[in-house]
Amino acid sequence: MTVRIAPSLLSADFARLADEIADVQNAGADMLHLDVMDGHFVPNLTFGPPVVARLATYCRIPLDAHLMVDDPDALLPQLAEAGVARVAVHVEACVHLHRTLSIIRDLGMERGVALNPASPVDSLAEALPWLDFVLAMSVNPGFGGQSFIAESVAKVARIRSMLGDHAIDITVDGGVDTSNARALLAAGATTLVAGTSVFGASDRGRAIAALRRCELEDRPS
Ligand code: DX5
Ligand code: ZN
Repeated sequence: MTVRIAPSLLSADFARLADEIADVQNAGADMLHLDVMDGHFVPNLTFGPPVVARLATYCRIPLDAHLMVDDPDALLPQLAEAGVARVAVHVEACVHLHRTLSIIRDLGMERGVALNPASPVDSLAEALPWLDFVLAMSVNPGFGGQSFIAESVAKVARIRSMLGDHAIDITVDGGVDTSNARALLAAGATTLVAGTSVFGASDRGRAIAALRRCELEDRPS
């Protein structure tokens, strides 16, 4: 599988979102990662479905919504209406995870489950048949620009091992940059979310290309 790079809009200039989206699209981004936060599940507040719907009209690449909210079910129909391609909900937030994943599927979006750094890999085990991807958090969710938690590499490897023949995408989110991308890809990650390391770079095209090269470097010659 070829690595996909999903810049996180959380690290963009919120006063110039349409321009920022155009910039990372032109820079070669594969998806746009949208961090929806409610100020309850995480101690930060970002944007919700009305803003996502407006941003979608400026975006040609798939929208990847990461819901850091107490009640994801309430947002799902509007996100589908906005054209979001895939949605990750947190296992820690979903009391009725199967129901939530069924709603996402019925709305025509790809289903992902996000795992906080301290949440066990096993908490995904029963949900595997209903998943299109796993979102492994490598920082505590809520803010961009945090330091990568080194143990995340081994955790990605454990998730890949647990998935076995169910070869779905593993996305890693938080503190991803060229210092850890290679190890993450070797461990089984297939999508890298990158906020600061892409939006914080003066040349976003170079930043995305540098992350991509981490996969090529890992191929046997
Ligand atoms: C954190 C978010 C991440 C964040 C990544 O709660 O889920 O998507 O924006 O930003 P960086 O890459 O700066 O850690
Ligand atoms: Zn995220």
